[in-house]
Amino acid sequence: MADLLSGLRPGESWHGEGVLHLPGFADAPVLWDALQPVLAAAPFRHLVTPGCKTMSVSMTNCGEVGWVSDRTGYRYDALDPLSGRTWPDMPDVFRMVARRAAAAFGAPDFSPDACLINCYEVGSRLTAHQDRDEQDLGQPVVSVSLGLPGRFVIGGAQRAGPKQAVLLEHGDALVFGRSARLAYHGVLPVKAGTHEMTGPRRISLTFRKAG
Ligand code: SIN
Ligand code: FE2
Repeated sequence: MADLLSGLRPGESWHGEGVLHLPGFADAPVLWDALQPVLAAAPFRHLVTPGCKTMSVSMTNCGEVGWVSDRTGYRYDALDPLSGRTWPDMPDVFRMVARRAAAAFGAPDFSPDACLINCYEVGSRLTAHQDRDEQDLGQPVVSVSLGLPGRFVIGGAQRAGPKQAVLLEHGDALVFGRSARLAYHGVLPVKAGTHEMTGPRRISLTFRKAG
């Protein structure tokens, strides 16, 4: 991500209307409370990529299906491979914040069936990737951030090329879709710090319509 151009300011658009940053959009304490029983039923775990690398970000899910990666590939699965049970239900407050953010983006019919929950310890990062395991790429992806800030980087539909960074802080939402739906994106290594709610980590809730 050496060819990073510059930072986006709140409200500034990139990809035309394809990315929307909503600073301070979510009621973070309410989401945090609702997250705890989800984590008790489906704890964070480090997944392995098809290339047999262990991801630095640990993940879990709630909803009808969850995103999983293993040696055989990436997929949405109705069962948690760790427990063999279905994923915890998506809390209503999760669904509501996702729908509200999607509506602000101009996608009022967004109805997520999956919430991928990422946990970034200090130094963890997510390398540039496309979200393309969902069936209907006409639906956006909604990301809600809790805890330590994370620098989210987004480029175009090719891995190479100019990129923009946006600092996602506690309670921020970010929606990407339309012209940016297949944009490569990632999160730079999370800087050291301690957040009063989450401790030394960033947690993101990413909502998708998978099926
Ligand atoms: C993702 O790209 O799936 C997660 C992005 C984030 O953590 O905000
Ligand atoms: Fe992604």
